[in-house]
Amino acid sequence: MQTEREFVWQQRLCVTYSTLANRMSGNPGQTERPVDNFGNSNILLKASFNPALNLRAPTPFPRKLRFVRKFFIAGNWKMNLLRDSSVALVHQLMDQLHDSQDVDVAVCPPSVYLHDVGAAIRGSRLQLGAQNVYHAPDGAFTGEVSCTMLKDLGCSYVILGHSERRAIFGETDRDVNVKLLAVLNAGLTPIVCVGETLAQREAGQTQSVVRDQTTHSLAGLTAEQMATTVIAYEPVWAIGTGKTATPSQAEEVHADIRQLLGTLFGHAVAQKVVIQYGGSVKADNANELLSQPNIDGALVGGASLKAESFLPIVQAAMKIKK
Ligand code: 13P
Repeated sequence: MQTEREFVWQQRLCVTYSTLANRMSGNPGQTERPVDNFGNSNILLKASFNPALNLRAPTPFPRKLRFVRKFFIAGNWKMNLLRDSSVALVHQLMDQLHDSQDVDVAVCPPSVYLHDVGAAIRGSRLQLGAQNVYHAPDGAFTGEVSCTMLKDLGCSYVILGHSERRAIFGETDRDVNVKLLAVLNAGLTPIVCVGETLAQREAGQTQSVVRDQTTHSLAGLTAEQMATTVIAYEPVWAIGTGKTATPSQAEEVHADIRQLLGTLFGHAVAQKVVIQYGGSVKADNANELLSQPNIDGALVGGASLKAESFLPIVQAAMKIKK
């Protein structure tokens, strides 16, 4: 997922920011000290311009610390489109995605169309994701689909714990956790969804709800597994409603999730985790949302069903990246 250029950036940033922070804290020798979770970079940016510290700003200074993570835009088609319209849509997307190397892009069609869509996009920049999975490897589980089957169809990603699965199908954090471990063991990349309802937000519970869901859904993961897991923050009240979280509302939660990941899995891992935002993402709000330091992509519902509404979101990410 990481290009060579991004890797070089990452190394450079780690050294530079460790040095900056350690000089600020009067600890110049201790370069290993964790300093920044990308949500708390302002102090370091300020430090680099503070003449009293006699520091030269890193050259070239990055516009965004997020450069160490690659943008990831995924379309969650939910239970929409039929076979012909699914295949037609990915052909339209592929026609326009030639120079999107700096952004990962995936489509997640209904499971019955994974085969046709997978065949249509094979060898292209588009990647395939599923919307759900069952944790068992095989057996008498009528109506379910296993990780091995999804791999067999060419899937790279699996969405887990989407709020619709939690609310309509009664999935719990424990269910999500069991599926998550199966997905990781199968070598697929999970997209774990978390987010509060409107009532929870209005009751001031956003942070505790999101932290609880995140902690319990991710229980038992190794640091290495965490680094490859994608999180999608999707406030339930913003899904399919046309009501988007403001960039600062979304950023606040994303930064808090990253802070939590730092506590649970270590700072270096937290820096690597891609955290998508989902909930009424559209062409006209994508740029502002994706410009936030801790928003690394989007999980798009309604706007992913048409090339003309999905492509501008990918293009917004490409522009920020350049
Ligand atoms: P909308 O973009 O339609 O609000 O859906 C978001 C979503 O649920 C993606 O998983």
